[in-house]
Amino acid sequence: MDALKTILAVDDEPNMRRLLEISLRQAGYKALVAEDGKQALTIIHTQNVDCVVSDLHMPGMNGLALLQQIRQTSERLPFIMVTAQGEIQTAVEAMKLGAADYIQRPFELETLEMAISKAISNNRIALENSYLKADQQPAENGLIGQSKAMFVLKQMIQQVAPEKATVLITGETGTGKELIAKALHAASPRKNALFVPVNCAAIPADILESELFGHEKGAFTGAVKERVGKFELADGGTLFLDEITEMPIHLQAKLLRVLQEGVVEKLGGNRQIALDIRVVAATNRDPMQAVKDGKLREDLYYRLNVFQLNSPALREREADVALLAQHFLAKRGALLADSALGCLQAYRWPGNVRELENVLERAAILSGGRTIEPAHLPADIVSACAPATSIVSSVITQTENTAHQFSIPAATQQLERQLIEQALSACKGNKAKAAKLLEISERSLWYKLDQYSLK
Ligand SMILES: Nc1ncnc2c1ncn2[C@@H]1O[C@H](COP(=O)(O)OP(=O)(O)OP(=O)(O)O)[C@@H](O)[C@H]1O
Ligand SMILES: [Mg+2]
Repeated sequence: MDALKTILAVDDEPNMRRLLEISLRQAGYKALVAEDGKQALTIIHTQNVDCVVSDLHMPGMNGLALLQQIRQTSERLPFIMVTAQGEIQTAVEAMKLGAADYIQRPFELETLEMAISKAISNNRIALENSYLKADQQPAENGLIGQSKAMFVLKQMIQQVAPEKATVLITGETGTGKELIAKALHAASPRKNALFVPVNCAAIPADILESELFGHEKGAFTGAVKERVGKFELADGGTLFLDEITEMPIHLQAKLLRVLQEGVVEKLGGNRQIALDIRVVAATNRDPMQAVKDGKLREDLYYRLNVFQLNSPALREREADVALLAQHFLAKRGALLADSALGCLQAYRWPGNVRELENVLERAAILSGGRTIEPAHLPADIVSACAPATSIVSSVITQTENTAHQFSIPAATQQLERQLIEQALSACKGNKAKAAKLLEISERSLWYKLDQYSLK
């Protein structure tokens, strides 16, 4: 699956160069050759090279000097030194200068191949490790939900995951678009390579370009070191471009080229690096509208939209609310009263799952880690489950004396009494706290307790 790797062989003897070139091709690499250090440096600066194999003894610049020159601009390019028998001392020096390995002449082709593939994969691992340390790789995905809509979505993820085709994920904020992208990666043959998220809205426009493409040393003022871009980092894996409509339009054009040609160029360089990347993009806008508004290039939209997955809003899958609530509360050991669950199911959740998670976190704290009652939920959520009509009908059915069925004072008193009871139970009988919840003075609360014989 990997893109073809390019090996540069440097040797002053024509026969040796020819032999290396043929051998490397047979081993499945793209082979480049140079007859001296100078030519080698020109190639490295103009083309993408994944590994250098260089002879030690060459007229002009020898292998060690070449390695030193390369390390001036590239800290990571794997370098394998070819020495003659008995030159261990020089080999050690090469390793100190940052060579990945050395081999001694005469060598078997297999030895060379092993050294190359080890050097390239170690280089990749070192890169990934430095990224993992900086950017904690997400834990394994867990898309929770058993509603019809989630079932269909999970099925589509399984279908689309094995393909390399780009995917555009749409859906309101907080519906789990990033989680879907992670699930796509985890279910794909790329799961062992990196999932690299880039939030286009969170990174300033002028930094985003070098963040994505990387840059060569000296590409601009302040570019003191070569930098690996997110594209390169995601090689073999998945690049997640979140909030794609927030990417500046000129960058969208560059992105389109990368998608079409499968190569990137670092800023300040003209080497083309061939990459094998699966791109997943997400937006919480309507993408067609974003095209009309000039926020998303139309050609990029069609290129990204090979598959579109829509992440359903929470209000469209009421069946998942209980399951999600259970999941979020399990971590805290809190329980949910049926009455509170009823409120959660009736609410419209403009912030979707993220909002649910936050509401429950707050409620779990308010309930002191015990059972969450409606009193622990924000007022707008509680009123969702007690719409005016149902208050009226409950008051009417509860009023025993039919003569007073429509009496406003009687109904108001009944509602007041219920609110006081609920507040007291939520505050475990603490009158000062209950009065606060009820937004009345403690004195009025005492008075009403007396009035309703609630003491
Ligand atoms: N189906 C789900 N199961 C479990 N957790 C979920 C689910 N959907 C969303 N979440 C959680 O809700 C939060 C928001 O999800 P996520 O960041 O993926 O949303 P988003 O759609 O990318 O939102 P935005 O558009 O605001 O970036 C995360 O903490 C995520 O773990
Ligand atoms: Mg998101």
